[in-house]
Parts: sequence; C-alpha cells; structure tokens
Amino acid sequence: MVELLPSILSADFARLGDEVRAAERGGGTVIHVDVMDGHFVPNLTLGPPVVASLRKATDLPLDCHMMIENPDEFVEPFAEAGANWMSVHYEACRHLHRSLELIAQHGMRPGVVINPATEVDVLIPVLGMVHHVLVMSVNPGFGGQSFIPYSLNKLRRLRELRQELGLSYRIEVDGGVAHDTIAMVVEAGAELLVAGNAVFGAGHPERDARSLLEAAQQAEARV
Ligand code: DX5
Ligand code: ZN
Repeated sequence: MVELLPSILSADFARLGDEVRAAERGGGTVIHVDVMDGHFVPNLTLGPPVVASLRKATDLPLDCHMMIENPDEFVEPFAEAGANWMSVHYEACRHLHRSLELIAQHGMRPGVVINPATEVDVLIPVLGMVHHVLVMSVNPGFGGQSFIPYSLNKLRRLRELRQELGLSYRIEVDGGVAHDTIAMVVEAGAELLVAGNAVFGAGHPERDARSLLEAAQQAEARV
C-alpha cells in the first residue's frame, strides 16, 4: 500500500510541530527526517535534539535518512531521541552489513539508500536484512530538485528482486516526487513516497499532502 512521507527539509523549521501536524492531517503516515553533516552532502540540517522535539510533536514513525559520514556513531543518539526507522547510504558505509545490524540492535527499522549513480544490484547481499530500500531520485543534499528518470529502472529492479528472492522489504523513493512524477514512481514499484517541496513548498501542507496522496492512490489502483 502506498504511503506518503512528508520530508521536513522543506518545512518552516521555526514552526516544525505545526508543519508536521498539518502534513499528518493531509494523510502523511511517516515523517521523513533528513540528517546532513556538510561532508557526505554539501548541506547541514539537524541532529538528535530536533528528533527528540519531533518525537513530542507527533506519534507518527520518524524515518531518519542519514546523509552523514560514519553513521554508526549516531545510531545510539538517534535511537534514544526517538527515531523509528533509520536508513544509511551504501556509499557512506565501509561496513554496511555491520551498520544495518547496529540499527536493528537499537530497535529501529534498518534501511539502505543508494545515490543516483549506484546500481541496485550491489545491495543484493543485504536485501534480506532491511525493512526498506531507499532510491535517491536526485543527488542528496537539497530539496526541490528535478527527478532523475533512470530511478524508475531501479524501482522496477527492486520490485523484481523482491519477488525473485522472496523478500518483503519496502521500496522508498526520495527526490523530485511531486504532482508530475508521483504516478510514474508508483507504477514503477515505489510504495513509500517521500516528498518535501511538493508538500511544504507552497505553504499548504495539509492540502498538498492530501492531493499528492490521492494521486498516488489513483496510480496504485491502476497498477
Ligand atoms: C534530499 C532529501 C530529500 C528532500 C527531498 O537530499 O533526501 O528528502 O527533502 O525534497 P524534494 O521532495 O523537494 O525533492
Ligand atoms: Zn531524504
């Protein structure tokens, strides 16, 4: 079943609680939290204190997308702050299998992320241990970028591999998901749909979350 994951990167950080609750009223079911360190990606965002505040503002699961070097060092602080899902980049982890185990040991749902230039098949050895696989459909670091069409091949490949290998991971997509692209990503196999600018950019998160989710559900009904 498709779910909408509002990405707070494009929200008004001074009013984060209100923004998250509005997106939730519009049908968002998981809150996507972008963690950036200024090294792995050329931008900085937030750390465990903000996650702890978000934890008080909503009961929805918090999906932490770690765009940082050495994510192992932050597994425990984010778990303690109340993160529920944590995804780490294939490109940032020297020992990816160990990092995923560490996340699970801390009671969070482990996920793995790939950048636009990384192929899905490199993930085959770890697909059995993840709750979700996140396909970046833009280069990570900023909201509001254009969707990279090759990502659709990756979503299809993940759906095919899940079937072939008899696994149950969920397929997530992040970057450039908006009214003009959401049907395509759903048709290609994405179920967890991250959207930042398309939810928060116009200042009407409840309305825009609702219409995005409706478009996704209509696409799902056609598949
Ligand atoms: C980008 C982040 C995304 C970002 C997506 O590095 O990982 O979660 O918020 O933004 P949009 O939906 O605006 O492309
Ligand atoms: Zn993200």
